[in-house]
Formats: sequence, structure tokens, C-alpha cells
Amino acid sequence: MSDQQRILTGMRPTGQLHLGHYLGALENWVQMQHEYECFFLIADYQAMGDHLDDIDLIQRSVLDVATDWLAVGLDPEQSSFVIQSYVPEHAELAMFFSMLTSLNQHRRNPTLRAEIGQLESENQAITLGFFNYPISQAADILLPKAHLVPVGEDQVAHIEYTRDVARRFNRRYGEVFPLPRARVGRVPRLVGTDGQAKMSKSLNNAVYLADDPDTVQERVRRMVTDVTGQNPRLRAADPGVVEYNPAFLYHDAFNDNPDEVAELKERYAAGTVSDSEVKERLTDALNRFLEPIRERRAWYERHPDYVRDVLLAGTERERAIAQETIADVRQAMRVVYT
Ligand code: TRP
Repeated sequence: MSDQQRILTGMRPTGQLHLGHYLGALENWVQMQHEYECFFLIADYQAMGDHLDDIDLIQRSVLDVATDWLAVGLDPEQSSFVIQSYVPEHAELAMFFSMLTSLNQHRRNPTLRAEIGQLESENQAITLGFFNYPISQAADILLPKAHLVPVGEDQVAHIEYTRDVARRFNRRYGEVFPLPRARVGRVPRLVGTDGQAKMSKSLNNAVYLADDPDTVQERVRRMVTDVTGQNPRLRAADPGVVEYNPAFLYHDAFNDNPDEVAELKERYAAGTVSDSEVKERLTDALNRFLEPIRERRAWYERHPDYVRDVLLAGTERERAIAQETIADVRQAMRVVYT
């Protein structure tokens, strides 16, 4: 166990998880949990940054996210599920890192810039808590001295910053931190059912891991099959466009029958299959994929005390490591007075 490399990665507790989370992150995590010592963080501090008025949602989602993680097969015996704010050392390390980060460097972070632009366009206040979140995220990663961070591509800028602050710390105070690397998943981002670049709750274009078969069917039925709006396909006899077609992107990602997918693509391009048949097959494929997840999810939903115990146990494990790291940091920085 101890000679294994470490992973820290996480999610913000702002709702139930969907197929985009699965493809961009969870699938990768489930595979990596056997090769690495993993810490999976539920980042509630970070969620407050732009969801301060949704405290109920955050509170509910901490348990929901843990339930979804268990349902997809993350194993709490192998890995630690951690509640960020229950390990206040996350905040403490972020405080130290903020001393090593210049405002100019911070303002150049492209992910942060894009998100600030988004919040401003919605007339939302930008709190310092939000503005500082990349620093807090670097602290998340370096507190357990993680080597590897499996994330979506939008997070790569934060890992770059994390490496940078670790390098700066080590140079100034001596080697304390490894320089962690990012690893991006199989499909960096899954389009929404409406064809927009990102699947998200606020766009109402997501298929959730917890959706029942009828809900999946309904969401697929309403799915957009022409992203450009320039190739409206009115009849099954019209040749259709397969590239960038959300229905086929989902088939490629989730249909366990590649022969069926190849055949559907061929017939679609030739104009010998209807949109509704492509969607029926997709509904079946998604339900085949989701059924075992749903079954496990139902069990954990009936046993919330088990899920809470998993969270508390993982949080305790990380906290012990966090306290050691903070002791190293204080020694190195000479923040020791007694
Ligand atoms: N920012 C990540 C997201 O929105 C969540 C997160 C918080 C995270 N702390 C992290 C991811 C540390 C990787 C490592 O999905």
C-alpha cells in the first residue's frame, strides 16, 4: 500500500452525477483505484464559491455524490472518500500557498478567467472564496502529496498551477511536495443531449446515473441529432450526418455492441434508418449500461448510515496524513514558535 503512488481527485457537491461525470472522470477513477492509493474529495468549500445560496443542495449532494461513487464501483475499502471541510488542514495549506502566489499569475489562469467571465455575464458576485479556489485546489492535491490527478481537461490549468506552487515551495523551503501530473479521461467531455458542448444540470441536458429507464427514454427521445441546425433530417430516407451527432457520440461511448453501432451508422448515412430507431437502440444501450449502477445505487440509498460511515472513515484517514504534511510545511517554513 505505502509504496503505491497516490492520487487525489475530487468533485464539487452540487447535484447528482451524470453520464458526463462517468466518462470524463469516474470510469477512469474506477480503473485507477487498484493501482494507486486514492483519495476522492468531495469539495464542499469549493462548492460554496459559486453556490453559496444553495446550501441545501450542497448538503444533500455530499451524500448523493458519495452514493453515486459507490454505485459506479469505487471501493471504500481500497480508497478514501474525503469531505474537504472536515479536514481543515485543506484551508490551512491554502492559506500558506496564497502567500506564494502573485495576483498577476493568479489572474492569468485561463479556467478561472473563463469562469469569472461566465459569472459576470450572469451578474453574479465574485467572492474572494471563489477567486481563491484554484489555490485551495492546489492545497487539496498537495495535502496528501498526490502524484497523479485524474481530471477533465478543463482542470488542467489548475494542475499546472499546482505543479508551479509545489515547485516554488520546494525551491524556497526545501523538498516537501511531489510535482503532480494531470491525467485526462477517455472522452474529455460528453456533449449534452441538446448538442451543447457540456452536459450540465443548469442546461437541463444531462442523463443522470440515477435516472430510471423511462426517464432515460424520454431524455433520449428529446435528444438533438443535428448539432448544426443545417441538416434537418425530416424522413428516414434522408441521408443523415453521423459526425458530431449526439446520438452517435453516445452510442460510441456507451453501446456495448459495436457491430450494432457500425451498422446503424452505415444505414443512417445511407438514409435507411430512422432517427427514432437510432434512439430506441440508444435507450436500450444506456439502460443496459445503467442498470447495474441503478441497482447498487438503490441499495446505498436505503443504507445512508453506511454511506456516512464510509465518508467519515475516509476523512479520518486523510486527516492523519494531512496533519503530517502540515507539520512538514510548518517546519520547512519555520512557522514554529514554541
Ligand atoms: N474543481 C474540480 C471540479 O469542479 C473539483 C476539485 C476540487 C478537484 N478539488 C480538486 C479536482 C482537487 C481535482 C483535484 O470538478
